[in-house]
Amino acid sequence: MPTAHNSAQKGDFAKTVLMPGDPKRAKFIAEHYLENARLVNDVRGIGGYTGTYKGIPVSVMASGMGMPSIGIYSYELYHFYDVENIIRVGSAGCIQPYVALKDIVIGMGAGTTSRFVHQYDLNGDYSAICSFDLLEACMKQVDTLGLREKTHVGNILSSDAFYGETPDMVKKWSAMGVLAIEMEAAALYMNAAAAGKNALCICTVSDHLLNGENLSSEERERGFDEMIRLALETAVRI
Ligand code: HPA
Repeated sequence: MPTAHNSAQKGDFAKTVLMPGDPKRAKFIAEHYLENARLVNDVRGIGGYTGTYKGIPVSVMASGMGMPSIGIYSYELYHFYDVENIIRVGSAGCIQPYVALKDIVIGMGAGTTSRFVHQYDLNGDYSAICSFDLLEACMKQVDTLGLREKTHVGNILSSDAFYGETPDMVKKWSAMGVLAIEMEAAALYMNAAAAGKNALCICTVSDHLLNGENLSSEERERGFDEMIRLALETAVRI
């Protein structure tokens, strides 16, 4: 069922979709990790691909940047394409001294500076959390792939304003134990909850917001590879 943002037909997506932010990353994952990947959507250059990983159908589609963007694409995948699981594979800026560049951060919960949650008209502050089933499956693969030492699981922050991340703001969220800042997970988790579906956000740390360090492009690629393998090994077991 094509939508204004997605030209795929019903049945074109596998039940599990990996979502990087960047359309070029989606294409790279489809071409380098999936077998027999075919393009199922290209509206606005947001490539969606379906293929197999170790023989099991998996899709990958970009989310774009920010909560409104992932909000649209994940809503349509859940409601119009019968997708059950979305695993975001992104990057994040860490805000704890014990988290390092290239580490993996998994968002058990996601706070936000956005008003996305207001659409549900709830009389309180909603806790946007990941799917426990996806997290449990992912943690088994973290151990199998030997990634436990570099993986951190906890609260993250989905920020609406990349350039509004001031030292004072970082300090306050850090003091609450939040691991890292990215820009999409909270909307994804809320859409999953409202649809009765599953979501998980896995990020590699590309920026250290406490000391200003960031990854070279070569290092980004290597860290990215571990995260994609982790997400795909999880995807074929759920
Ligand atoms: N802030 C928000 N999103 C990000 C960052 C950041 O510092 N780094 C990578 N994604």
